Amino acid sequence: MHLLHVEGSPRKQRSASIDVAQSFIEAWKARHLGSTVDTLDVWTTDLPAFDGDALDAKYAGLTGQTRTPAQERAWDGIRALAERFHRADVIVFSVPMWNFGIPYRLKHLIDAVSQKDVLFSFDERGLIGLLGGRKAVVVAARGVALGPDYPAQDFDFQGAYMRTWCKMVGIDACHIVLVEKTLFGPEADAESRAAARDAAVVLAAGL
Ligand SMILES: Cc1cc2nc3c(=O)[nH]c(=O)nc-3n(C[C@H](O)[C@H](O)[C@H](O)COP(=O)(O)O)c2cc1C
Repeated sequence: MHLLHVEGSPRKQRSASIDVAQSFIEAWKARHLGSTVDTLDVWTTDLPAFDGDALDAKYAGLTGQTRTPAQERAWDGIRALAERFHRADVIVFSVPMWNFGIPYRLKHLIDAVSQKDVLFSFDERGLIGLLGGRKAVVVAARGVALGPDYPAQDFDFQGAYMRTWCKMVGIDACHIVLVEKTLFGPEADAESRAAARDAAVVLAAGL
């Protein structure tokens, strides 16, 4: 078994989402002895710019044109990154909420790898995800708690986006672990993390 951890927070030691994701990963590894973990840190990985040759390579593929050598090289970089998703049985995302959505570096990674014939395909039947059979765990950290003041249907572009991306690439099993109120002081933060760590360990027991 192989797990890919996509680290979406630059806060590392202080990050609530990474903290809870680590609890999940430790519990999951204990259940799957001999399993391997690949960490993809979106803040230190050299993510390919998605313009110029990469963008032209995408449209060449969509219109059935032969790619130039420079476009092929750009596409190889995209494929190599996407291969890390294909290799995984379980994909864990640690995701901070930023402006009710996800951090731009995580969106950059997703925009780079989510390509036709790489992570999905489509035909007259619609979208066909190519990551079917995998499981996703999204640890979603938030400074506040969504609720009456910030109803999730209007403000949650974090969980909603990650769930939609999972559907797009064919992952039906998308589990969200929430860590809210991380900015309500050390006590609320500790309490919230502890509850989320417990939930993550319970989830790991079933995956
Ligand atoms: C640029 C930025 C934007 C943020 N926007 C929101 C927000 O819209 N809603 C929210 O509840 N918290 C927001 N926060 C707080 C973070 O979600 C919170 O600190 C969370 O713990 C971050 O996850 P991490 O600890 O894994 O880095 C924001 C933080 C930053 C740095």
